[in-house]
Amino acid sequence: MTMTDRPKLRSRAWFDNPDNIDMTALYLERYLNFGLSLEELQSGKPIIGIAQTGSDLSPCNRHHLVLAERVRDGIREMGGIPLEFPVHPIQETGKRPTAGLDRNLAYLALVEVLYGYPLDGVVLTIGCDKTTPACLMAAATVNIPAIALSVGPMLNGWHKGERTGSGTIVWKARQLLAAGEIDDAEFIRLVASSAPSTGYCNTMGTATTMNSLCEALGMSLPGSAAIPAPYRDRQEVAWRTGKRIVEMVAEDIKPSDILTKPAFHNAIKVNSAIGGSTNAPIHLAAIARHIGVELPLKDWETEGHKVPLLVNLQPAGEYLGEDYYRAGGVPAVVNQLMGQGLIAEDALTVNGRTMGDNCRGVAIEDEKVIRPFAEPLKEDAGFIVLSGNLFDAAVMKTSVIGPEFRERYLSNPDDPEAFEGPAVVFDGPEDYHHRIDDPSVGITPETLLFMRGAGPIGYPGAAEVVNMRPPAYLITEGVHALPCIGDGRQSGTSGSPSILNASPEAAAGGSLALLRTGDRVRVDLGKGTVDALIAPEEIEARRAALQAAGGYAYPASQTPWQEISRSHVGQMNTGAIVEGAEKYQRIAQTRGLP
Ligand code: FES
Ligand code: MG
Repeated sequence: MTMTDRPKLRSRAWFDNPDNIDMTALYLERYLNFGLSLEELQSGKPIIGIAQTGSDLSPCNRHHLVLAERVRDGIREMGGIPLEFPVHPIQETGKRPTAGLDRNLAYLALVEVLYGYPLDGVVLTIGCDKTTPACLMAAATVNIPAIALSVGPMLNGWHKGERTGSGTIVWKARQLLAAGEIDDAEFIRLVASSAPSTGYCNTMGTATTMNSLCEALGMSLPGSAAIPAPYRDRQEVAWRTGKRIVEMVAEDIKPSDILTKPAFHNAIKVNSAIGGSTNAPIHLAAIARHIGVELPLKDWETEGHKVPLLVNLQPAGEYLGEDYYRAGGVPAVVNQLMGQGLIAEDALTVNGRTMGDNCRGVAIEDEKVIRPFAEPLKEDAGFIVLSGNLFDAAVMKTSVIGPEFRERYLSNPDDPEAFEGPAVVFDGPEDYHHRIDDPSVGITPETLLFMRGAGPIGYPGAAEVVNMRPPAYLITEGVHALPCIGDGRQSGTSGSPSILNASPEAAAGGSLALLRTGDRVRVDLGKGTVDALIAPEEIEARRAALQAAGGYAYPASQTPWQEISRSHVGQMNTGAIVEGAEKYQRIAQTRGLP
């Protein structure tokens, strides 16, 4: 392609606009002040943003500060000009009250940057859980050429000869601590062993999930998602990503060309095969709404439930990030699904080729880590979507139902997919932590644990707290998991078979607010229902009483954004986005500029 064939660059409106020479001069002068030249800025070279999510506050993504140098090299090599800028930090483990609150804040801010500055294309530096959806959501809204670069997972963690995986080891260590088998110092040593290098969680938590799904959507280079952060291959793919975005600008490949409905369905299938996180439906719904694709929650069941689990990573399996990469990563998984006709092969990807062309024939290099389709770890490993008289929609990751849970709850030969028991209800994580080990609460192996007040409004941003452990006195008796149901989220690193993301949440008028400790609740996984066994008149009487008392109470906002978010955020079944933001689509044409 020659210079004259190229589409008119968006950045020309700032830097090379003869109709508005006074503003052009003003725009130019400040970008010259750190050493760029007029010759560069007026040469017709594309200006490429590097949306930098790494910082000292964001350890998972911090290695992007290093990788950005190779991204810049790649951009320069292809004749582009890199301009790096910060994205609002979102550290999953560090942000209080929850990183979930900041996904939409980072999204809104990145939209303003991509819309309001002279950028022709952007490299999105993704990694830690919410950084991936925040960046993809913003790229979807503005719709300038965009490519994502994963920072990659940490190296495998080890402790006494065993793999210790991010997050997953915490759930195990908490049980050991609660049972008195380790002390506080050993608890910290065990947890820290899972984080041996720079990078994000090495388990199939939300980060590995979302980075894999970003590649499955076609938004990052094939084979790039699984490369561990410290590997030299990660540096190389940073350079190739920088090169490729310059070509994408010339070819005018935009997010709307890639993020199509078949691409989302590909991602749902891949999510089942990798054993992906229950946060994925929230984030994919958000990305889909911002690009204008219909993706109802039910699609996770109809497209994804029948797909088997192929990737043997913790928490559903045994291995970790390095093993996933060596076994072939996302392309090897996609190739297995393609063999069964499960993938829309003609979906376009950022490299200008189709998903089918990228992944066809990619072999599995280690069948212990990625199983062939014919020998899966589990059949029907996708999510099921549940509803009933307590909520309209919730999801459950069936791939993590273990033998102990199956034996205790799903072994009635007359009713093998249903169970019921008395509810114990907690109002937020503080209430749970305060009371879980109190024997007077009366938790037994038959109890169903409920968590409410933990949704996008109740615990602003939605807390990852529904996966509750049993009381210590039951753990010592060998009860390692009770059924958990709630209007919050669950960490992707947890292996708990919980019913999550219940919408609408108690704080938004959902009927979970009406449940009382002692009510019996029936769960039918076959029918996809969760129902409190309470008469409809009783439910209505409780609703009237709650409304008369002013509705479900939750703690007051503590920051301006918490308050703003609470008044605008939607529910998790529809992506928990800033409602109304979805009407702004394909806004790359900036006001006041030709
Ligand atoms: Fe950042 Fe898991 S905490 S990826
Ligand atoms: Mg998380």
